[in-house]
Amino acid sequence: MEEEYRIPLTSEDIFNAVYEGDKPGDVIVFDELESTNSYLMAKGEEFNNFTVVIAKRQTKGKGRLSRSFYSPECGLYMSVLLRPDILNTQLTYITPSVAVAVSQAIEKVFGIAVGIKWVNDIIYRGKKVCGILTEASIDPLENKPRYVVVGIGVNVFTPEGGFPDEIKDIAGCLSDSSADRVKFIHFICEIIHNIRKYCQGEALFNNHSEYVRRSVVMGKRVSYSKNGGLTCARVAGITDAYSLLLETDNSGIDEIASGEISIRAQDLYV
Ligand code: BTN
Repeated sequence: MEEEYRIPLTSEDIFNAVYEGDKPGDVIVFDELESTNSYLMAKGEEFNNFTVVIAKRQTKGKGRLSRSFYSPECGLYMSVLLRPDILNTQLTYITPSVAVAVSQAIEKVFGIAVGIKWVNDIIYRGKKVCGILTEASIDPLENKPRYVVVGIGVNVFTPEGGFPDEIKDIAGCLSDSSADRVKFIHFICEIIHNIRKYCQGEALFNNHSEYVRRSVVMGKRVSYSKNGGLTCARVAGITDAYSLLLETDNSGIDEIASGEISIRAQDLYV
């Protein structure tokens, strides 16, 4: 496995034009990794805040809830190391803030509007185009994380031969135009820039309205597992700490802080 090159991905000219001198930390690009998240989680102690690891393809891409993430060479698979000064209980702010950061990058670079399906999926034309996996190294004796790794997987272009049968009905991509290939580096820079903007200091706690504005689940009927069974409810709100408020059929309010909800495909359109 050959490490290809280190910092920065872009030419100085483009970089300065877009970021006005706001430089990210190291960017390390690999042709192939098992998983950019696994790589950074294993080596987190060695790297600075905002180190970015990118793989052109992953052989064991990880998703949430122990799922795999299909990672052929037509997507963006990147992980960012963060050392936020937050409590473990505040880790729930990271994934939604990254969802806002990536959504804005998509909108700016590709000129398309995307929505967010609670909690970590970015949706375009009713299909998932991006998933986010946040992992943290926790010291059991401390109530602050040692470091956090945010993994972002974006289906930028359609894979050759299309998506595998298991995901072809739910996975989408951002673009089918080969002309958009030149936007790849701009897209990466924009994500890094936005993560720095939204995921550090007080800014981490100020992304709620941007998140809710893009939510595709607000007011919709969804199902979720509870006490070993499937429950249906209407999404009534998203709390400041990004828990989902659900109005159940007997008019009770349920609050879930993690997990997954299912929603009818036609309700996913922005
Ligand atoms: C999900 O949708 O469940 C989350 C998917 C996260 C995938 C990204 S790709 C880059 C990083 N490395 C991984 O192994 N996973 C994340």
